[in-house]
Amino acid sequence: MKTKKTITDSTVDPDILSYTVGDDPVLDLKLAVWDCLGTAAHVTMLSEMKLKKPVVTKKEAATVRKELGKIAQRSQEGKFEIRVDDQDVHMAVERMLTEKLGDLGKKIHTGRSRNDQVAVDVRLHMKDEILRTEAEAVALASTLVAFGAKAGPIPLVGRTHLQPAMPSSVEMWATGHAEMILDQLENLEAAYRLSDLNPLGSAAGYGVPLPLDRQRTSELLAFSRPIHNCFGASMARGECEAALLSALAQLMAVLSRCAEDLILFSMPEFAYFKLPRAYCTGSSIMPQKFNPDVLELMRSKAAQVLGLQTAALSMMHAMPGGYNRDLQDSKGLYMKGLDITRTTLRILQKVVAGVSVNAENCRKAFSPGVYATDVALQMVAEGKPWRDAYHEVRDEFAALYDGRPSHVSNLDPDEVVMAKTHEGTTGGIDLGLYNRRCKAALDAIAKRMKAMEDAKKKLFK
Ligand code: ARG
Repeated sequence: MKTKKTITDSTVDPDILSYTVGDDPVLDLKLAVWDCLGTAAHVTMLSEMKLKKPVVTKKEAATVRKELGKIAQRSQEGKFEIRVDDQDVHMAVERMLTEKLGDLGKKIHTGRSRNDQVAVDVRLHMKDEILRTEAEAVALASTLVAFGAKAGPIPLVGRTHLQPAMPSSVEMWATGHAEMILDQLENLEAAYRLSDLNPLGSAAGYGVPLPLDRQRTSELLAFSRPIHNCFGASMARGECEAALLSALAQLMAVLSRCAEDLILFSMPEFAYFKLPRAYCTGSSIMPQKFNPDVLELMRSKAAQVLGLQTAALSMMHAMPGGYNRDLQDSKGLYMKGLDITRTTLRILQKVVAGVSVNAENCRKAFSPGVYATDVALQMVAEGKPWRDAYHEVRDEFAALYDGRPSHVSNLDPDEVVMAKTHEGTTGGIDLGLYNRRCKAALDAIAKRMKAMEDAKKKLFK
C-alpha cells in the first residue's frame, strides 16, 4: 500500500488521529502569524550558532524569513489552510516552506519541538490579545466616564442591600464602574507579564545538544526574558493561559455587575435609565416587551468565562511534569475567554453610549430615608453627639416603618448631592483623574504594540 509521507507519521488510525487533532486545524489559524514569527526568530538564531558546519547559513535564514513573511501575509488575508494531514499550524508551515524551499524547509525544525513551538506561538498571540483587550477595556471605561460627565450631578438613589441608602449621582455610578474596569488592568498586566516570558529553546522540555541562544530569540521576539529552566518552560504552558482566564473572569464579573445595574435601573419600576429601543429584544407572544436580553447575556457570559478558568486549572492540577497532550485543550479555553470578553467589552460600550437618563425619575425616587444620614449629620453640625442624633432619626423612621405618626425630614436631592465634597463622593469626583488614567494606559499599550510591530518588521524583512 502506498502511504503518503507526512511530516510525523501516517500510521495512526483515522479516528484516533481526528480525536487527537481535535479543533487544532481551526484554532491554530489564529496562531499562524505567530508561528511564522517564532520560526523566523528560531532560524535566525540557528544561523548565528557557532558551529563547524552551520545548520543553516545566514543567507538561508534570510530566505526562510522572507518566505515566512509571505506565509504570514497570506494568513492575514485568510488564505492559510491547515490540512488534515498537517494536523496543526506548525506542520502546515513546515510543509509550505518545504514545498517552496526544498531541503532548506526541512531544516527549520532543528533543535526545536512542537512543545516549545506551540508554547511560544500561544504566548505571542496572548500578548497581542491582552493588549487589544486592555484597549477595549479602556474604551469602555472612557465611555462610562463620558456618560457620567454628561449626566453630571443628576441625583441617583445610592443603594445597599438593594434598599435606598444614601444620595448618589449618575456621575458617581458611572465613574465608579469605570474605575472598577480600570483597576482590572492590573490583573491583565500580571497575565501579560507571565506571557512575556519566552519558552523557545526548551525543545521537548529538556533542551538539546546544540548551542541554542535563548537570550537572542527572546530579544528577537520582544520577550522580556527566556524561562530559564527548560523543564519549567514546558510546564509553564497552561499556567499563563489560566492566569489570563482568571484576569478575564474577574473583568467579566465587573462588567456583569454594570450590566445588572443597567437592567435594574431601566426596569419600568425604576425608569432612571432607558435603553434605546433598537437595543431591546421582544417576545413572540407578549407584544409589549422590550427586554434587555443583551445585558442578561453578559451575566451568563461572565459565568462562562469563570467556567473556562476553572476548566484550565482543573485540566492542569493533576498533570504530571513535562508536556502532556492535555495541554492542547488549553488553547481553545483561553481563545474562547478572550473572544467572549472582547465582544462583551465592545457591546457594553455601545449600550452605555446609548443609555438615556431620566433626571426627573431619578429625583422622584428620593424617599425620605435616603436623607436620614444627612439629617443626623446636620444635628451633629449643631452640636449633638453622633449616637444621640442617630437614635433620634432612627426613632422617627421606626415610627414611619410601623405606620405610627412620624416627622421625618425631607431635603433637596440636588443640594445633598452637592453638599458632599470630599474626595470621591458625589461632589468630589475628579473626572480628570479618569481621563489621565485612560490616557496613560493607552500610551503603555501603544508602546508595547509598537515593540511587537518592530519585531515583525525586522523578522519578516
Ligand atoms: N497541537 C499540539 C498542542 O497544542 C502541538 C504539540 C504537540 N506535541 C506533542 N508532543 N504531541 O499541544
